[in-house]
Amino acid sequence: MRTRIFQCAVILAFLLCVGNAYAGVQVPADMLLAAPQAMKAQKAEVPFSHNQHAKAGVECKTCHHTWDGKAEVLKCSSSGCHDQPDKKDKMAFYKAFHGKDEHSCVGCHKAAKKAGNKLAPTACKACHVKK
Ligand code: HEC
Ligand code: HEC
Ligand code: HEC
Repeated sequence: MRTRIFQCAVILAFLLCVGNAYAGVQVPADMLLAAPQAMKAQKAEVPFSHNQHAKAGVECKTCHHTWDGKAEVLKCSSSGCHDQPDKKDKMAFYKAFHGKDEHSCVGCHKAAKKAGNKLAPTACKACHVKK
């Protein structure tokens, strides 16, 4: 009996891991997004759930828009990406999250809201949640 339970636990753990992997890349657990330290954040960190967005049908590559599906997934603020502190810069850190395009949180949420999805937050406070 004991070994049975143990075997089940092992199989379950295995399935959970596989279920969370995508093309060999591990999908992160729920995270708190923050600005790089050098940028001196003005707003509170933003909770973000990969699982919830997967359930809502958002593809990895919609957000990770330079990812080829195999190599390492880059951070938004990786060098040469959205690494500029000046809001007006084309590669501004700010624009990665508030730009008008579908890759950005606010861009996609505004479009989703327009299409009738009330679950995608667009208010500052709904994302920058004060602790
Ligand atoms: C859909 C979610 C979302 C909404 C809505 C949103 N933001 Fe953000 N914002 C983010 C994310 C994600 C980051 C990057 C992580 C971080 O810096 O906290 C960010 C970063 C920032 C930054 C740069 C980092 C910092 O803390 O200084 C500023 C400034 C900012 N947001 C201001 C705003 C303001 C003002 C509004 C409302 C007009 C707003 N945001 C609405 C998600 C959002
Ligand atoms: C709705 C947008 C969105 C979707 C969809 C999405 N991600 Fe992410 N992912 C993010 C954000 C934002 C981060 C944090 C990036 C950062 O720290 O700059 C992240 C981080 C990651 C990281 C960690 C990168 C690092 O070095 O810290 C991996 C790995 C990852 N995602 C894989 C995936 C995979 C695989 C999928 C599809 C199953 C996926 N993501 C779908 C937005 C998304
Ligand atoms: C391509 C579209 C898309 C992008 C990009 C996107 N989201 Fe969303 N997000 C959605 C949709 C759609 C929902 C509504 C969820 C549903 O329909 O179940 C949602 C819901 C949410 C929610 C609310 C979840 C709840 O508790 O109800 C949060 C918070 C959120 N997103 C944060 C973010 C942040 C932060 C980013 C950027 C790092 C981001 N999203 C990028 C489509 C997107």
